[in-house]
Amino acid sequence: MHGRRYPVTLVVRQRLNPGTQLGLVLSTRSDGPRARSSSERCTPYAPWSMGHDPDQLRYDEVARAETPRGEVVLRRRQAEGSPAVLELRVSGVFVMDTRETSTERALAQQALGLVPDPRTVLVGGLGLGFTVHELLADPRVERIDVVELEDALIGWMRDGTVPHGPGLLADRRIRVLHADLATVVEETVGATYDLVLMDVDNGPGHLVHEHNAALYEAGFLVAVRRVVQPGGVLVIWTADHAPALEDAVAGAFGGCRQVSLPVRLQEREEAYHLYVASRSMRD
Ligand SMILES: C[S@@+](CC[C@H](N)C(=O)[O-])C[C@H]1O[C@@H](n2cnc3c(N)ncnc32)[C@H](O)[C@@H]1O
Repeated sequence: MHGRRYPVTLVVRQRLNPGTQLGLVLSTRSDGPRARSSSERCTPYAPWSMGHDPDQLRYDEVARAETPRGEVVLRRRQAEGSPAVLELRVSGVFVMDTRETSTERALAQQALGLVPDPRTVLVGGLGLGFTVHELLADPRVERIDVVELEDALIGWMRDGTVPHGPGLLADRRIRVLHADLATVVEETVGATYDLVLMDVDNGPGHLVHEHNAALYEAGFLVAVRRVVQPGGVLVIWTADHAPALEDAVAGAFGGCRQVSLPVRLQEREEAYHLYVASRSMRD
């Protein structure tokens, strides 16, 4: 996912302790998640079956919700001798986990590095909160509107089902909106945000939700430009190269830069990508 050869693991501590902070553990293991659209290598929902094989993983379901779009599942994955990892699946598709989060964080870092005074931020996709966590670490940021489609996930972040959730969402700079990003952008009046960060899906080539296709197309991107302050930026996360997206962003903003972030996924060097555009000061 990111510019690191060795994934940084966020260790999920006791689920029953909602306020618990995540501990940072540097790991040199190479069995992180595959690209977001890929499945993990072990049998889903397997009971304890690790035996003495270090490659065996245990899966435990932590929470599940049925939605009109399909099921949203949070589960805990653990290899023998390794810290537990939380993973999020939507409609059977791996969305993300708490082990390899460098590109989610890089999404925020890229944007923060480009704008001198990034006070207001719109984030599409709360997920497990790593992008938001990175934003909150920057004292220049005064307000973050986070838009999340799945009400259940917001609930799990709030009630401690995701242990680091309550601490994160307690920050007064955050406002969580249960909505579709498309609706929020449509209803936003004027150039409100210094940064707009989009990580709502795996990218246009591997959509979890077909209806998200429009979020990577010209019409929506022009609407996004209108809510970005002159001098502000849009950054979009994708799992694959997305030349059509690059063209569409460039058409809307007058230019677009692709940043590829190396990430080691299941013994292979891969890359995830950010598409970065600035709104001209003269716009
Ligand atoms: C990959 S996760 C985001 C990860 C996040 N960057 C992080 O650091 O944890 C994508 C999130 O976007 C949400 N989502 C999907 N489509 C959406 C939409 N149209 N509007 C708002 N949120 C959406 C999903 O439910 C999921 O929580």
